[in-house]
Amino acid sequence: MFIIIKPQQPEAILWQSLSSVQNLSHLCDCDSKRRTQHLPNNSAMGEVDSAFIQAIEHRPKLTITEAEGIPVIDLSILNSPDISIEKDCKKLASLVAEVKDACKKWGFFQVINHGVSLECREKIDLASRKFFALSKEEKRKVKRDELNSMGYYDTELTKNVRDWKEVFDFTVENPTITPLSHEPDDKELKELHNQWPEYPPDLREVCEEYVQELQKLSYKLLELISLSLGLPAKRMNGFFKDQTSFVRLNHYPPCPVPHLALGVGRHKDAGGLTILAQDDIGGLEVKRKTDGEWIRVKPTPDAYIINVGDTIQVWSNDEYDSVEHRVVVNSERERFSIPFFFNPSHDTWIGPLEELVNEKNPAKYKAYNWGMLFTHRKNSNFKKRDDENLQIHHFKA
Ligand code: OGA
Ligand code: NI
Repeated sequence: MFIIIKPQQPEAILWQSLSSVQNLSHLCDCDSKRRTQHLPNNSAMGEVDSAFIQAIEHRPKLTITEAEGIPVIDLSILNSPDISIEKDCKKLASLVAEVKDACKKWGFFQVINHGVSLECREKIDLASRKFFALSKEEKRKVKRDELNSMGYYDTELTKNVRDWKEVFDFTVENPTITPLSHEPDDKELKELHNQWPEYPPDLREVCEEYVQELQKLSYKLLELISLSLGLPAKRMNGFFKDQTSFVRLNHYPPCPVPHLALGVGRHKDAGGLTILAQDDIGGLEVKRKTDGEWIRVKPTPDAYIINVGDTIQVWSNDEYDSVEHRVVVNSERERFSIPFFFNPSHDTWIGPLEELVNEKNPAKYKAYNWGMLFTHRKNSNFKKRDDENLQIHHFKA
């Protein structure tokens, strides 16, 4: 079997780039004979479509930089049932300071002793593996479409380039209410409904259990972030009533051209917080704020990776940044990950919180409606767009 790269991109350039990556042994095997062997047999991705090929400046680096710097934060004090602000004042203050520091320096951190049971995580991981092992035909029975963006999908675009992945999405609230279209004048709403496959039969139950556990962690983190901005702990909780949060099961199959394609292209998460479970393969890269270098997040067993999304960037009036990240794939091993996107309700207006704005530090954004942005982003995952995707910088004051 050969890798066929459909010739929208001049072949000469592609083959030149293929041959210029001889030192990539840890990321992929560049010997074409071996690479061909690694092609997954009956995979639809055996033939590489040029839609997957990243522009040269966005391709993975040839060497991996693994950072020690991304903080690991221990949340164990939050698990004790009788935690009190008075009694545990010092410990709490130091935890809040760690969160603040991580949000400012990286926009990313990992948490351990987070209170989510390992059994619950292992169950959803296993169910996800069973689901993605099904035939395409079976998975497409729960395929998402433009009207209902929940379910299975294998042709997602990030910044107009196809991601080397397949996903299964489900919302926390079922149904979840969102605007029908992203047009600001269109006030019509729609309901997103979860679709569950026949197999594995316990997928629904396992996912619903997982969401219950993750909700508790989401609010703990939201409250810590709120405190770290000098606000009352529950200042932001109200925005998440009737939330549009969703969970994504990600499967990144082995990729014959891991130096040309990405599992997920560079992007920022639009919502409040993301809580990611990754397996032991690794591949998530974060853009380091100090120098713009792509840094690999080292898998830590049973930890969750947390990042601040665009919504918190705006609420904090740029005190915290939503940091760009991407996923690098490899030719040898498939990878699984499960992000939980903690998002506000569709009718939330997102703007800098008034307590964080004053004459010296005026609001850096005009308020925008979350539902409109959410729907806009969802639609852009389906279609190639000529214009740039809607981003928070479009609302800069
Ligand atoms: C995402 C994402 C990272 C990963 O889906 O937004 O950044 O490691 N995923 O799968
Ligand atoms: Ni992301």
